[in-house]
Amino acid sequence: MNRKVDIEPRLAELTSTRPELAAIVDQVVESFRECETLTDIGEARIKLLGKKGSITGIFKGLSSAPPEEKPAIGEIGNLLRSWAESALEQTERDLTAAAREASLRSRAIDVTLPGRRLPVGHRHLITQVIDEVVSIFVSLGYRVETGPEVELDYYNFEALNTPSYHPARSLQDTFYVLRHDVVHDNRDDILLRAHTSPVQVRVMESRKPPLYVLSPGRAYRKDEIDATHSPMFFQVEGFAVDRGIDMGDLKGTLEVFARKLFGEERKVRFRPHFFPFTEPSAEMDVSCFACDTSGCGLCKGVGWLEILGCGMIDPKVFEHVGYDPEEHTGFAFGMGIERIAMMKYGIEDMRILYENDARFLRQF
Ligand code: PHE
Repeated sequence: MNRKVDIEPRLAELTSTRPELAAIVDQVVESFRECETLTDIGEARIKLLGKKGSITGIFKGLSSAPPEEKPAIGEIGNLLRSWAESALEQTERDLTAAAREASLRSRAIDVTLPGRRLPVGHRHLITQVIDEVVSIFVSLGYRVETGPEVELDYYNFEALNTPSYHPARSLQDTFYVLRHDVVHDNRDDILLRAHTSPVQVRVMESRKPPLYVLSPGRAYRKDEIDATHSPMFFQVEGFAVDRGIDMGDLKGTLEVFARKLFGEERKVRFRPHFFPFTEPSAEMDVSCFACDTSGCGLCKGVGWLEILGCGMIDPKVFEHVGYDPEEHTGFAFGMGIERIAMMKYGIEDMRILYENDARFLRQF
């Protein structure tokens, strides 16, 4: 910075005949010209007014000066000192004000800029489908119950009328956590539940009818991972136990559900099936979303899509929980959530549901 520095006329007059003092005045002027920061000012102050400073030096030289020169030299020293002091202060104020302004300017807020959007997460597609299924049944009067994923053989198989020779019990399909060697009584074996149906038994065991229960959760099977299989997957189980429940209630309830989930124009059909814990048992299909039963790629030419397994709760299950099958009847159903999500959103590979690729997940 090349600061303009005015030196008083009186000082100029006094130093005109005293070149060694005029040199000091020049030095003082020069050190102001160079001040650009507060640090520079501090340094200039030391250089001019410090113990060894040049202005201080003028006073030190007074004692050895010829007596007739003393008043003029003293006056020069005083003028120079007060001039330097006030100039230093002024420069300091200027620099501080400039620095403050620069800092304010750098922090200034442009209120016309658009706001910074915080990235907001949302529920995973699987969770969304579960919530949707749950809310449909909650609106029909069902309540949500959950059970453990690490389960006893008794709840996963035995109480669900799955005899030990049933293929679903084999070591190949089920993840066992603890297997006893005694072949004949394996109800204490510990496993990862292979479906959500054990929750039926746990709830019935602890409460009395009427029961209208929905139970979402994870299930585990020893399946190789591929486009339609995963060793861990989600199911929603549902069941109703009351007086006088019959197959018509089952069909009516599930038809209402299918229409709410897949659209009012959907048709449903029930095909006979087998589950050890329901009798009779069925699988429910909905008319294909893409072709409406005429057959296309989505339904592989069938015209229908399988949605869930269901049936009337087997009296053998009621025996295990101490219900009287003469007094109460009930139906149960279970559906795979991944499958429903895939059909509903046209997802062809199940693995993408678990990969947590935000580019995929953000679309839902
Ligand atoms: N638990 C059966 C399965 O995993 C589904 C089901 C549930 C069938 C309830 C009938 C009744 O395939």
